[in-house]
Amino acid sequence: MILFRGGTLLSSTGAKRWDVLTNGESVVAVGPDLDHSNGAAVVDIGGALLLPGGIDPHVHFHHEAAGTHTRDTFESGSRAAILGGTTTVIDFITPGRGQSLSGALAERRGEARDVWCDYGLHQSITSWDERMPEAMEKMAREGIPSFKVYLAYRNSPGIDGETLLAVMETAARLDLLILCHCEDAAAIEYLRDKLYTEGHRGPEWHPSSRPPATESSAVARACSYAQITGARLHIVHVSTASSCSAIAAARQAGARLTGEACLHHLVHTDSHYEVGGPEAAKFVMSPPLRSPADRRALWLALQEGVLDEVATDHCAFDLEGQKDRHLDDFRAIPNGVPGVADRMPVLYSLGVVEQRLNVWDWVALTSENSARIFGLFPRKGLIRPGSDADLLVWDPDASTTIAVRSGAHLCDYSPYEGLILRGAPSRVYLRGSLVVDGSSLVAPEPRGRFIRRSLEPSIPPQHRSRRPNSDHPSRRPTWRDEGP
Ligand code: URP
Ligand code: ZN
Repeated sequence: MILFRGGTLLSSTGAKRWDVLTNGESVVAVGPDLDHSNGAAVVDIGGALLLPGGIDPHVHFHHEAAGTHTRDTFESGSRAAILGGTTTVIDFITPGRGQSLSGALAERRGEARDVWCDYGLHQSITSWDERMPEAMEKMAREGIPSFKVYLAYRNSPGIDGETLLAVMETAARLDLLILCHCEDAAAIEYLRDKLYTEGHRGPEWHPSSRPPATESSAVARACSYAQITGARLHIVHVSTASSCSAIAAARQAGARLTGEACLHHLVHTDSHYEVGGPEAAKFVMSPPLRSPADRRALWLALQEGVLDEVATDHCAFDLEGQKDRHLDDFRAIPNGVPGVADRMPVLYSLGVVEQRLNVWDWVALTSENSARIFGLFPRKGLIRPGSDADLLVWDPDASTTIAVRSGAHLCDYSPYEGLILRGAPSRVYLRGSLVVDGSSLVAPEPRGRFIRRSLEPSIPPQHRSRRPNSDHPSRRPTWRDEGP
């Protein structure tokens, strides 16, 4: 048994000077001045913050794209995650077209070796036939109730409108969740080839091939299909002001809709593409970085509860030897950026310290809301009797500077290089065991487990817009448009 004493216990609804008692892998009591005469080891956390371990519901470890694999395996990616305070990640299974869902799951579980944090998997649907509804139902019974579809990537793994309707209709009937990558594949293919043919070939042309309209048209389509079928829909990596407006409107009209912002879209803008060459190649991801106005809209959407969680879409390709091999053809550059280690501290610094978010909004956006949306609640995402003892001791005064050399992921650059942060995890516990102490991994071996998830009929995320204004003393965005 461990008694955590002297800290401020955070949840999405507030902060309390409460103790936390764990027994083995679980929390058994929370409250003021808990008794420790029962022989519990006392950990005095001395005024630090105590919060539920982070949940990053969108990562790609050991991911193949453009004929190459990401540098991060499940081992290195999950190590980076837990060093940054994230105790649960959700990755993806992407079957080949025609491959069975259960075959693809077995393959993916085989790749998920030596995992340092707990993990779940979303199942992607890349093709459709009459066996799929039963296969989706079986996946849900195996703890995978969320299904990803891509409206981008026409050749693979993207799907067409008929397939999207079939997937959503099945999801509505079985009450499963659809995650949607919303970009219009046809428009993007057209623009990519047009730009290339006109001689616009470097990575600086990547954003021109995926303008905001390619996202908003796909968001509008996904939202209207969700309304038509009644499916629950979660839109991943929302990056534009117009997508936020479309989501707010569809939700208002009754769609069962939630949305995600990604860290890189909250931190950076499209000015990174201007220099071209390797610097621009670092930021080739989809959707691309957007304008300062879009970035402002994303922060506002987080403040107002239009978007519900912040993920990284961690997808770590080296600049040297992977991305830079295609500086003469942006279409062939493997898409993605790393970030799984940086999400908790960057969002704390730019969000809480710079007064864009309340500290409890930060907990909701980095942990509790994902637990609610993806079927991990109340086991994860909050600290209360019965929940897993995934505990993050947070030092709000720690000062760090992001540098790829000292970073935890394996690829050779960081999109956040040089960012000076305040606030860092000082200890991370996974199901009651200390895994990270300071900036060191102290657990003798990886103990992460596959977590079976199951969706509740309705556990809405904590929507901050429902709170009284007095809860928002910090809603004074002071954004520097040239970027951090
Ligand atoms: O650029 C991105 N987002 N890469 C990861 C794969 C995907 O599209 O989600
Ligand atoms: Zn992704």
